[in-house]
Order: sequence, then C-alpha cells, then structure tokens
Amino acid sequence: MPGAPPPRLTVHPDPETLLRATAAGLLTAVAEAQSARGTASLVLTGGRNGIGLLAALAQAPGRSAVDWSRVDLWWGDERFLPDGDPDRNHTQARLALLDGLPLDPARVHPMPASGGPHGDDAAAAAEAYAAELAAAAGGGRDAPAVPSFDVLLLGLGPDTHVASLFPEHPAVREEGRTVVGVTDSPKPPPVRVSLTLPALRAARQVWLLAAGEDKAEAAAGALTAEDPFRAPATGARGRERTLWILDEAAASRLPASARS
Ligand code: 6PG
Repeated sequence: MPGAPPPRLTVHPDPETLLRATAAGLLTAVAEAQSARGTASLVLTGGRNGIGLLAALAQAPGRSAVDWSRVDLWWGDERFLPDGDPDRNHTQARLALLDGLPLDPARVHPMPASGGPHGDDAAAAAEAYAAELAAAAGGGRDAPAVPSFDVLLLGLGPDTHVASLFPEHPAVREEGRTVVGVTDSPKPPPVRVSLTLPALRAARQVWLLAAGEDKAEAAAGALTAEDPFRAPATGARGRERTLWILDEAAASRLPASARS
C-alpha cells in the first residue's frame, strides 16, 4: 500500500462511547466533504458496530448538519439473501437509520439480493455491483473503477476479517475485480458479496471499528501484521487516513508501542 498513511488509533472507554463519538465524527466528516465537494459518499458495513453506528447516528443531535439528499450510500459487503431478509446488512441499515432519513433513492446503492435478476449467483451479483460502481466513477475507459468514497466503514472480525474478506481466502488476493462473490464464508451466512482490497483502498478515509474482548487478539494481530492474506484488516487502508476506533476491551492486547 505505497503512500497510504499508517492507521491512527483512538481508544474509547466503552462501546457506547465509541459509537456516540464515532457518530459525531462521521457527521462532521460528511458535512466537511459536502462543503468541499457538494456531495459525500459513505460505504456502510454490517455487524454489531456497523449497524450500532447507524443507530447512534439516528440519535445524534448533529445529524441535521448533513444534507442527506446529497449523500451517496454504498455497501462494503452484503449477506447474499433475499431482499428484505432480516439478516441482510441493507435491511438492518434501513431499520437502524436509513428509513428515517430524507435520502435521494437514486443515491442509495444496496448490493443485489439473492432471488432477484441474478438468482442465487453471487458472482453475477458482484459483477453487476462492480458495473454500478464503475458507472458512478465516470464509466470512461480511463475512469477509476470505483468512486472516490469519502468514508468507508468496516467492522473487525475476531479472525481479522473485514467486509467479507476472510483470512487466507483467495478473495483477499484479488487485484483485478472490485467486487467478488464469496460462497464459503466462515461467518454465516456462507454466501456473500464483498468489495475487494483495491476497492476498499480507493476510499479517502477508512474507519475500522472494533469493540469487546473477543476482538482484542484480532486487533493486536492485525495492527502489527504485514500480510493482508493472513490478516485482511491490515490491507484496508484509506488514501488519506485510516482510523482504528476501538474500545478499551478490544485494545487490551495491543502492544504498548501501538498506543503511544
Ligand atoms: C458482515 C460484516 C462483517 C462485520 C464484522 C464485524 O456482514 O458480517 O460486514 O465484516 O463487519 O464481522 O462484525 P461485528 O461488529 O458484529 O463484530
């Protein structure tokens, strides 16, 4: 990842503080992007913290500082399930926040659901999402393959996975495609669609959230790891900034040097 600055660490006392503070920071980042460029693009993720953050945003006093009709929403990964399935990241995001916001539906880009035009073919769904990203990025021959996301959110799996990129899975080594289908995810459900590392790295900022003792080993391992194939989280770096946002329990095994 030549040129990408190393992760900066923030440690909050507990998960509730982490989510509240991150929600406030995210509103500021989105408002700043809008004042600089007119619009802002966010990449959402699933899991406890990914969805918890959206619930915290729904309660955040500063949410009116953002013009929600000029926010583009993308997903970093999705559980490949039928539309409306309660386990889909999109469904959970809608319930936690999106249904209550004045978003422009044309700017909301959920990953395809199973049972739609792609049936149960996660690879075809991934290809379709890659085309949607490429079109939003300009679509020309020399255009980038994905938009320049402002903030891309990630959760950290206990095995150091991010999005649906799992350790030692070939998807982590993908360099050509921006989106892949994953059919053997160790975290249920087994079939998923995920951005690849090159797509994650197109983001200006990557914010990785982890809370709880069950993330302590992964956080320590991934923050000091060198090889994304073994520890995918280490490969997810933003072009301008990478923030690792942990609570004390998740940070409890970090080497002292990482916290100084
Ligand atoms: C998913 C994810 C996944 C998640 C991590 C962390 O759809 O499952 O996007 O990458 O973010 O597993 O999840 P937790 O915050 O629940 O630990």
